[in-house]
Amino acid sequence: MQQPKRYLITSALPYANGYKHIGHLAGAYLPADTYVRYLRAQQRDVVFVCGSDEHGTAIPIQATRENTTPRAIIDKYHEICRQNFEDLGISFDIYHRTSEQLHHETSQEFFTYLNDRGEFQVFEGEQYYDEEAKTFLADRYIKGTCPNCGFTNAFGDQCERCGKTLSPEELINPVSTLSGNTPVKRTTKHWYLPLDKHEPFLRKWILEDHANDWKINVLGQCKSWIDGGLLPRAVTRDLDWGIKVPLPDADGKVLYVWFDAPIGYISATKKWGINANRDWEPYWYDNETKLVHFIGKDNIVFHSIIFPVMLHLHGNILPSMVAGNEFMNLEGDKMSTSRNWKIDMQDYIDDFVKKENGGEQTVDMLRYYLTQIAPESKDSEFTWKGFQDAVNSELVSVFANFINRAMVLMHKLTNGKVPRLHEDLLDDKDRNMLGEFIKAKQTIEDSIENFRFREGLFEVIELSRKGNRYMQEKEPWILAKNLGTNPENQKLIDNCIHICLQLSANLAIFINPWLPSTAKKMLHMFKVVDKMLLWENAGKAKLLSPGYNLREPALLFRKIEDDEIKYQIEKLKNNSKPVSGSAPEEKPETKKTELKPEIVYDDFAKISMFTGKILTAAKVKKADKLLQLEIDLGFEKRTILSGIAEHFQPEAIIGQQVVVVANLAPRKMKGIESNGMILMAENSEGKLFFVQPVGEVAPGSSVS
Ligand code: MF3
Ligand code: ZN
Repeated sequence: MQQPKRYLITSALPYANGYKHIGHLAGAYLPADTYVRYLRAQQRDVVFVCGSDEHGTAIPIQATRENTTPRAIIDKYHEICRQNFEDLGISFDIYHRTSEQLHHETSQEFFTYLNDRGEFQVFEGEQYYDEEAKTFLADRYIKGTCPNCGFTNAFGDQCERCGKTLSPEELINPVSTLSGNTPVKRTTKHWYLPLDKHEPFLRKWILEDHANDWKINVLGQCKSWIDGGLLPRAVTRDLDWGIKVPLPDADGKVLYVWFDAPIGYISATKKWGINANRDWEPYWYDNETKLVHFIGKDNIVFHSIIFPVMLHLHGNILPSMVAGNEFMNLEGDKMSTSRNWKIDMQDYIDDFVKKENGGEQTVDMLRYYLTQIAPESKDSEFTWKGFQDAVNSELVSVFANFINRAMVLMHKLTNGKVPRLHEDLLDDKDRNMLGEFIKAKQTIEDSIENFRFREGLFEVIELSRKGNRYMQEKEPWILAKNLGTNPENQKLIDNCIHICLQLSANLAIFINPWLPSTAKKMLHMFKVVDKMLLWENAGKAKLLSPGYNLREPALLFRKIEDDEIKYQIEKLKNNSKPVSGSAPEEKPETKKTELKPEIVYDDFAKISMFTGKILTAAKVKKADKLLQLEIDLGFEKRTILSGIAEHFQPEAIIGQQVVVVANLAPRKMKGIESNGMILMAENSEGKLFFVQPVGEVAPGSSVS
């Protein structure tokens, strides 16, 4: 196949309405980033775009929940998501926003272009209306039972459980999420994209042209949508949050979020062009561009049916590939935001990445495990134990171990320099090993070009496994023992170490798309420049020059300890909450409000309570629940142990105001003396809150 002239890679624009979890990361962002890093190493022309999806009912609904405005919500979560992606090494060329003026204009022009050409149909029709809230109920403002899977909390546009795209009319027992009432029907006017008219185009383009290169899960969803009968699809909504429909007779109407959001890929590309002073148009208009969308499976029909029809009518290129991934489950259950059964990117960053010792390695550890269990063709499952195993028994014991041994042997047996190769002494094992570089290059390339990222990564680890085996068979340390009697052995040692080091350099190139900071660290050890990572260098056995001095080996990965895993599993369980509508679930035990026997004022007056401030906080070794706190009480500083370690990250509570029971008898736990107690409130779900004065009060103020 001829190579495309340029690539435009997109990852689904996440709704800026909350924290995004590692299932999102694994589905739409990490594989895209891996692909892009590979293309960049190939020095191909590639632009990688993403940004926040800031319209739709999801935003105002979250605003109501957080008791604030939609604007405040998007500003907050846009920044959080952007930073999360940056922290996890997702290397977008631009992270744009659909609230930007440029995007509003781009979407309105797009709409107008189609409207002027008569591509829409306008229908008056009945839609669900909430008489109490006096508003039409678009998308997520309406809930009901999913006709597909029976989930009783499905949204009017989509079922969160089975991922099926819905319309409000399909819901069984629809209910307004605004008032809780059963909605009535009212007449309203909307603009529709007649998908039915484009059935022949879709059938040919998807089911014929892409029958062999699109993934089965994507083709399957498309086929069932098309066979199920395509219908005109409304592209406008009665809402006050969104992009105004650019027509005089469309007061109070905005573009449907799924109309404007994918156009966000175009406006993001425009913005990139402006920033980088590059022409953006070929990326959307020139047939020699390869457009690839990375998404989760709940977005498949939008990216392979609806948006392509829009692009087709607007004169743009179509996606060459819609890389739709399945879902990632977590510890035996579906990941879910409403039940809080998930690991947010933010959680992982706080608990692992931001730690002082070796925090930076943990980004690549997550990238590794998420790729290894990527839901490329079927749902997969994240478990903390699996994470620990992947890190400890593959990254640490196989990959890092090989690199480390090669470096250590070089320092021991060849003076810290790359030894030369004595060609005349090469044996079959050496030649085989050298041949593996070339083979690996080919297989890894094939895997990535065909969007099989887990297979590609597996090959990289396999190659390092082969390196270990080779080294084990050659036993240069044994050869070194007999150097006195056999001085010729030095040449054999040289050959083995030379090959191991060239293999290490190749492994840096190969691992780079997946684990970029590991590759960087390896470059540093080898004292070579970034350019070595160019893909054209892969497969070569002359990357490190003989005689060249290399640095001491650096630790590439630390082990994941049992208590880290235990802590995470408990945290997950403690923070999860049941939600109505899913299969029967037990409610957490609610604490009874029970009164202790009556006391008199004098009993109470025996307690001395003061306000204080947390100065330092640290976990206590071998105690999962305890935090050791230094508290400023104004008149003195105290050490207090508090059983809140499962609820708060130590660094997150520094500076908090607290109320301290100061005359409690001292008590020793885990060898540390605790002098007092901190007052906490516990809600019915077992969540803890600090009891605090309203407003700032100086430490040492009395409480009574
Ligand atoms: N915000 C959507 C979601 O989270 C994805 C939008 S993708 C785009 O499901 F193509 F519309 F941008
Ligand atoms: Zn469903």
